[in-house]
Amino acid sequence: MVDQKPPEQIRVAVIGAGPQGLCALKNLLEEGFDAELCEARDVIGGLWAFSNDPNVFTTLESTITNVSKLKNVYADFPCDNDFPLFPTQKEFLEYLEAYAEHFELKRRIKFKKKLLSLSRAEDGNGQMAWRLEFAEVYELRDSKPVTIKTVEFFDKVIMAIGRHHSPHMPAIEGAEHFGKRLIHSAQFKRPEDYRNKRVLVLGFANTAGDTATELIGIAHTIYVAHRQGILVLPRVLKGKPVEQLSNRRMDAILGTLSSWFPITMAKFMQNMALKISDQAFSLKPAWGFRPAPSRFTQRVMISDTFVLALEAGDIESVANLKRIIDNEIVELDDGTRLYVDNIICCTGMNPNRSFLESLGQRTKLDEDSAHKDVRLPRLYQNIFPPEYASSIAFLDGWQAPTGICEVADLACTAIVQIFKGAYPLPTIEEMNREIDQHQEWLHTIGLLPNEPGAARNAVQERKWRSWLHDAAGNGMNEYLGWGRKGWWFWLTNWRFCNMLMGGVDSPHVGRLFEGRRKRWEGARKAIEEVNSEELARRKTDDNRKKK
Ligand SMILES: Cc1cc2nc3c(=O)[nH]c(=O)nc-3n(C[C@H](O)[C@H](O)[C@H](O)COP(=O)(O)OP(=O)(O)OC[C@H]3O[C@@H](n4cnc5c(N)ncnc54)[C@H](O)[C@@H]3O)c2cc1C
Ligand SMILES: NC(=O)c1ccc[n+]([C@@H]2O[C@H](COP(=O)([O-])OP(=O)(O)OC[C@H]3O[C@@H](n4cnc5c(N)ncnc54)[C@H](OP(=O)(O)O)[C@@H]3O)[C@@H](O)[C@H]2O)c1
Repeated sequence: MVDQKPPEQIRVAVIGAGPQGLCALKNLLEEGFDAELCEARDVIGGLWAFSNDPNVFTTLESTITNVSKLKNVYADFPCDNDFPLFPTQKEFLEYLEAYAEHFELKRRIKFKKKLLSLSRAEDGNGQMAWRLEFAEVYELRDSKPVTIKTVEFFDKVIMAIGRHHSPHMPAIEGAEHFGKRLIHSAQFKRPEDYRNKRVLVLGFANTAGDTATELIGIAHTIYVAHRQGILVLPRVLKGKPVEQLSNRRMDAILGTLSSWFPITMAKFMQNMALKISDQAFSLKPAWGFRPAPSRFTQRVMISDTFVLALEAGDIESVANLKRIIDNEIVELDDGTRLYVDNIICCTGMNPNRSFLESLGQRTKLDEDSAHKDVRLPRLYQNIFPPEYASSIAFLDGWQAPTGICEVADLACTAIVQIFKGAYPLPTIEEMNREIDQHQEWLHTIGLLPNEPGAARNAVQERKWRSWLHDAAGNGMNEYLGWGRKGWWFWLTNWRFCNMLMGGVDSPHVGRLFEGRRKRWEGARKAIEEVNSEELARRKTDDNRKKK
């Protein structure tokens, strides 16, 4: 399985220039691979590169990241000090641009080059390789752009095409009465278009929350219709970003307990999350937030404004949409009838699994799931199709409560070490066994059978991260663990060690220790700075509140 060629002779394609693809390219180039990134659009940033085109799904210009800049950064590239704690779409895109510029990534990116298909085939030299078919757009002087189909061979591939591809549009009885006034949130670009309209927002997750609050002061009436509750959390609680309410020490304890008592701990963690929600908001039963599905689903709403808007009466929470009666009347599940001008379905997006499935990859239907149509991909560590694990990785396969940059960096460092042959993979049989065990865990904690919106890509956080740390060779298991190196590090650096374990949970720790992957000299300084800046910020906030 181990590729014997040195990295500079190994040709790797990365597909997609979002936060994950950029990180994959950077890590490959750092290890000397002959890497190239192909991006369908003409910009980097993926979802974060806003587009007005209704056919291109992006965040809105008004989107604010729901994970703070303390956690949503790459391990060796700190965020601008001047950025707010939760950067806006524009600021986060600026950060991605600065990352691409700093690591000189654009010279290895081919824009307007869309992957069409992927298969194993013999290259021109009689070697088995990945055959990639692209549609490339060429701008010709004085004529329309032309699209040409091209074929290239690569030794290895990293797929970073994101999870949000085609709108998940529910089948609604009577939809024909509404025509173009019934849209999916992917087409929602300009709130101004809804001035003085009565708008029904369908769904009860992040997009629904953002879309509804976006319409306040513009639309005449805003209803949010939903079929179940949701765990709602603020961005900041008790002065800390919610993802920083825990710390590395606490995560280690909870993670270990979770591996021993998965069901009890899943319930305990859910109760903790509900308590945090209760501390932040006084939720009225009529708003329908409870019962809330498990936090292991992707259904956690992070919003500072949504509950306040319900309280103020700017938004009304109503039962699920049952059917559309005529061109302005809709009926809800509880029999209520409402007058509505527009319906915006914030019902999520479907991922594109066609590339994975084209590998002949076994995808198993969840027979005992409430949603039998949902396919469960078989990926080792939620990344590698076992049969081709040494040469292809899929970067869409997890649901972990963290920032995308942090987790992408960890995963990409690991993938690149595996592609180098520096970290051995188990046999195909062992990988398949591990996948079976993981899927068993999804059933054990009650995700698959009970939760309609369950995240099929949930991971056992501690176990999964521990494997990635080992594969990446970042020294974290050794220096922050119980072994000889761990004790020595603690004894000789106890103050700093305490900062790592109890202070800001900063991704820069990923490049702090000696290991197989390249270390970043600036990591310790960056961690100390982030901690002192965050303490200063909290103090200023406290003082402001006391006044
Ligand atoms: C509205 C919204 C807000 C979010 N907020 C947060 C947040 O605050 N924090 C957070 O951590 N995560 C957030 N997320 C999750 C989001 O998925 C990640 O932030 C991030 O964009 C994922 O990065 P990615 O590189 O995997 O995919 P994407 O950003 O989706 O990028 C994928 C890229 O691949 C390209 N591509 C796709 N198919 C092809 C093809 N066939 N050939 C070539 N190129 C292709 C696309 O054009 C795109 O540029 C949010 C998601 C949404 C929808
Ligand atoms: N500010 C931010 O950072 C931000 C903003 C927006 C989105 N995001 C991210 O973007 C991703 C997508 O979020 P999303 O909110 O668009 O989608 P989502 O998380 O998939 O939620 C979809 C919502 O639609 C509902 N729904 C689906 N099918 C339905 C049907 N047939 N009838 C009624 N309701 C239905 C779901 O209800 P059930 O729960 O009942 O299935 C759920 O409330 C997530 O990762 C999210 O975190 C982040």
